[in-house]
Amino acid sequence: MRTVRAVAQLRSTLEPVRRAGLTIGLVPTMGALHEGHLSLIRHARSHCDVVVVSLFVNPAQFNERADLERYPRRESDDAALAQAAGADVLFAPAVDEIYPAGFATSVEVFGVTERLEGASRGREHFRGVATVVTKLLCMAMPDVAFFGQKDAQQVVVIRRLVADLNLPMGIEALPTVREPDGVAMSSRNALLSAEERPRAVALPAALTAAARLVGAGERSAQAILAAAREAMRPYGVEPEYLALVAPDTLEPIDTLDGEALLALAARIGETRLIDNAILHPVTTNAAAAAHAPSQPVPGKAMTTCSA
Ligand code: PAF
Repeated sequence: MRTVRAVAQLRSTLEPVRRAGLTIGLVPTMGALHEGHLSLIRHARSHCDVVVVSLFVNPAQFNERADLERYPRRESDDAALAQAAGADVLFAPAVDEIYPAGFATSVEVFGVTERLEGASRGREHFRGVATVVTKLLCMAMPDVAFFGQKDAQQVVVIRRLVADLNLPMGIEALPTVREPDGVAMSSRNALLSAEERPRAVALPAALTAAARLVGAGERSAQAILAAAREAMRPYGVEPEYLALVAPDTLEPIDTLDGEALLALAARIGETRLIDNAILHPVTTNAAAAAHAPSQPVPGKAMTTCSA
């Protein structure tokens, strides 16, 4: 695996790959790699000729300075993990390579950014995500970029910007990878204390309770959300938001009559966690939510890396 830090170096590494007609898969990350990231890298490895992993803790998407400073950073461990999972190129730029002096452009996606994470974290969060992802896509020009469905709203925002800006690549979302107790893998889990970690089960417990109710025939969003909230109570965790929305527009829904996204965020101590599940009136049962083995995200055609 080759580590590159400059955009020019990334371009000169990938130019001959593209000229040879080989396909490029990009896995954008902020490091602190865990099994969720590694599943994306392995998937890219098995579908693309050349796999690029980017490792950049993007200051523009953190709305709290303390959160940015606390974010785990371990580049040499990440490099070893990325290589073992099949990465060919690690793009690990410094902040001023991405945001040089005089940088004055940002990408903002409207509509799908206002709810959920957008409402909790402010406009800057998705503006920062959209800007850095647009830059990474333009720098690497992959055939396909791979993201985790754990950040469901982020995937919706990225699909929107790629369509709106006519960027010529596929976006593929892969299922959330979970710990044995159902907690979604996240770089932020490392920030939980030994006392806090068991309480993180509140999030998958909410998803499982909702899925169980849907499996039993409930279709009212109000009832489904009430059951999810109730399931978090034994862990002493209150959701920051808990919402049942349309998976593409993120508009709230009243009645489950097709696929819906159940999304939530909660703080455990100082650490903010998010999770989500796709619910469907016909196919959902309790196992289909937070404890399910990895499955393709329903309703989304899988993009292949073949040119
Ligand atoms: O999901 C993440 O880790 C980040 O939001 C991303 C997509 C790498 C952009 O910084």
